[in-house]
Amino acid sequence: MRNAARLESVHPTSNQIMQDTLDLQEIVEVTHNKFRDVDDGEVATYIPELGKADPRDFAICLVTVDGHIFSAGDWNKEFTIQSICKPFAYQMALEELGRERKLSHVGVEPSGEAFNSIELDPKTMRPFNPMVNAGAIAVSSLIKKDSFAAGVRNFVEKMQLAAGRRLQIDSSVLASESATGNRNRAIAYLMLNFGIIDDDVNHTLHQYFSQCSLLVNCRDLAMMAATLANMGTNPLTRDPVFNFEYIKDVLAVMFTCGLYDHAGEWAYRVGLPAKSGVGGGLLAVVNRQLGVAVYSPRLDPKGNSVRGILVCRELAARLGLHAFEFTNVGSSFVQSLF
Ligand code: DON
Repeated sequence: MRNAARLESVHPTSNQIMQDTLDLQEIVEVTHNKFRDVDDGEVATYIPELGKADPRDFAICLVTVDGHIFSAGDWNKEFTIQSICKPFAYQMALEELGRERKLSHVGVEPSGEAFNSIELDPKTMRPFNPMVNAGAIAVSSLIKKDSFAAGVRNFVEKMQLAAGRRLQIDSSVLASESATGNRNRAIAYLMLNFGIIDDDVNHTLHQYFSQCSLLVNCRDLAMMAATLANMGTNPLTRDPVFNFEYIKDVLAVMFTCGLYDHAGEWAYRVGLPAKSGVGGGLLAVVNRQLGVAVYSPRLDPKGNSVRGILVCRELAARLGLHAFEFTNVGSSFVQSLF
């Protein structure tokens, strides 16, 4: 009902709403122009295939929970999702196993460490959280299926529903990641030693590397973020994708851990649940309102997209998106669209 009412309220006959909608497109374009010449940061090369990305690529996309899309730049250029797969795999583990079983394998504490840190919580020997590699590998171990192909297919199918279109794995990135992924192998064997994952380590790593190698574009990421914002229902296709009972778990962990050792600064300046990937993608969720995504492959030393962070700071300030903005009833600007 609420969504139907929202769809009516943005009907083109409403001049005010049309004006706000146009403003949002203008804001996205102005923001894109503002940061288009920023060339700080470097494209990731530790996975050799990622080094082929064009550092000039730059896209911004916003999707509202009633399915309006605002984009600027190379919004349909594909890149690999990398660590942005982590919150979605975590959501799948919660749906398949429930909270308690999942919690026995991975915690919810920010580690303050880099994404690839070889470290477990010294009290429990669990990974600190599902956003660092250790936690994501533990999650991959939980959601893998009987065969390599079945587990990957299950993940891709879920992500297709969230994106609202067919997606595929980049086999070159998968091969490159697998060939150079010894640090992740070390993390996995450490967790095997402490009984956090089972002994099918190759299978678990294939699941994890495949998840990271999913090809998406900026619009897909915004749609996936909007699906989380929209209580698990894809705003365009109306497909139910995620069980909303667990979305708050996922958003909470994204808020505190989504940008690794930049998470505190991010919460302070942007104030939104978010996730970055070394492919250059970054998504943020404005709960019950919209999904935000940026693609720009130049990364800072912590592995986060430089322009991704700048754009999200700018949009959060301009649209009042910060979760604790005192004028915020959700976001006052975005709320005015509904
Ligand atoms: O585990 C890795 O190295 C990559 N496949 C994913 C890392 C990643 O995207 C970190 N995020 N910024």
